[in-house]
Amino acid sequence: MRRINAGIIGFGTVGTGVVKLLTESRELISSRIGADLCLKYVADLDIKKDRGVTLDQGVLITDAEKVVSDPEIDIVVELIGGETIAKKLMLKAIENGKHVVTANKALLASSGSEIFAAARKYNVDLGFEASVAGCIPIIKSIKESLAANRIHSVSGILNGTCNYILSKITSEGTSFAVALKNAQENGYAEADPTLDIEGFDAAHKLAIITALAYGMTINLDDIYVEGISGIALEDIRYAEQLGYRVKLLAISKHVGEGIEARVHPTMIPFDNLFASVNDSVNAINVKGDAVGDMFFVGRGAGMMPTASAVVSDMIDISRNILSCTSQRVPLLSYRDENIKTIPVVPMDEIWSRYYFRFTVVDRPGVLSTISGILGNSGISIKSVQQTEEKKEGPVPIVMVSGPAREADVKKAIANINTLSITDGNAIVIRIGEDVSH
Ligand code: HSE
Repeated sequence: MRRINAGIIGFGTVGTGVVKLLTESRELISSRIGADLCLKYVADLDIKKDRGVTLDQGVLITDAEKVVSDPEIDIVVELIGGETIAKKLMLKAIENGKHVVTANKALLASSGSEIFAAARKYNVDLGFEASVAGCIPIIKSIKESLAANRIHSVSGILNGTCNYILSKITSEGTSFAVALKNAQENGYAEADPTLDIEGFDAAHKLAIITALAYGMTINLDDIYVEGISGIALEDIRYAEQLGYRVKLLAISKHVGEGIEARVHPTMIPFDNLFASVNDSVNAINVKGDAVGDMFFVGRGAGMMPTASAVVSDMIDISRNILSCTSQRVPLLSYRDENIKTIPVVPMDEIWSRYYFRFTVVDRPGVLSTISGILGNSGISIKSVQQTEEKKEGPVPIVMVSGPAREADVKKAIANINTLSITDGNAIVIRIGEDVSH
């Protein structure tokens, strides 16, 4: 049987999962490919740590350069993350004619054009299924299964760590810090967990799927990003009373001639499918002109789900190698000459309903002052809630608005925040009614 050699760079959580799958499911995989997918190298700086897997003599090395330079290596799997060394190694592998598989969403979102251009130049395949939503086959679905569709929107819960944290706080009242620690222990979080909790990881993933869905180039800076660190248990409880769950949602959709691309905490009605997606599970809704709404759900982080996506790319590439072909499916879904520049709608121009929580002094006229400012900005109030507080001091007022323009909301809230009757800044959370059905 023909042998296809792979080398992994990075023996962390996902790297260990890939080694496990390639060794424990070797026969299954080779029966599906028709070739033996062999692990020639696993490179990591730490070759002492016990990862609970056994490798043949000589496989575990410290020299990543060997993986990208050895003429016998067909596929390089980059799993070290980061944007400097990973990029250098990936480009070197490509220049040496190796196919590359990566889970590095940050690198693809920031330097994708350079890396994809190199892959095209050297005619090698670049698999990145694991970069978005763990095991959910969203990249392949957009590139292949949905290729006959004009895509109207792609929205999703794309960060397992945030979904895990929000779910734990919602169901158990766990503190943010404890929930984050658990997510780290489970191997969901990035090495720098601020990438997760401040929404940047979800933005990296949104950049990748937005480019594929609409055949466009997108600049990371054009994506509005707001994370979950400002979400308090109090807001999660108010949301429940109002019939909503709070989720970190990544949204990209065609609006007029442009694309909205944004990541922020969103209140989702209980009866919306996203509301019941908990733990580290990710979910994506794709709306296409032929298929209508499609909803994908699966583990978005963790060792084996992410490894499954990495190995599926390795299998795809192995099949291409056996067929003596590469890039049969365009790397970015559309053929290069058809990739367009589509304007991204400025955040100020989006429309949404909003949840506001103001902390105010408890005296007559406060409510009318606040609603007056909102009303003068064209923001209609749909509900107001003030629980009778026994304690002295400032009290919360919760309001839900009708559809309003972001710029008007920002201006009104900035104005309210300066009033002497308010104690601290208002909490503002967007409400998403139409993100999926
Ligand atoms: N840190 C990421 C997450 C891992 O929590 O979703 C998967 O990309």
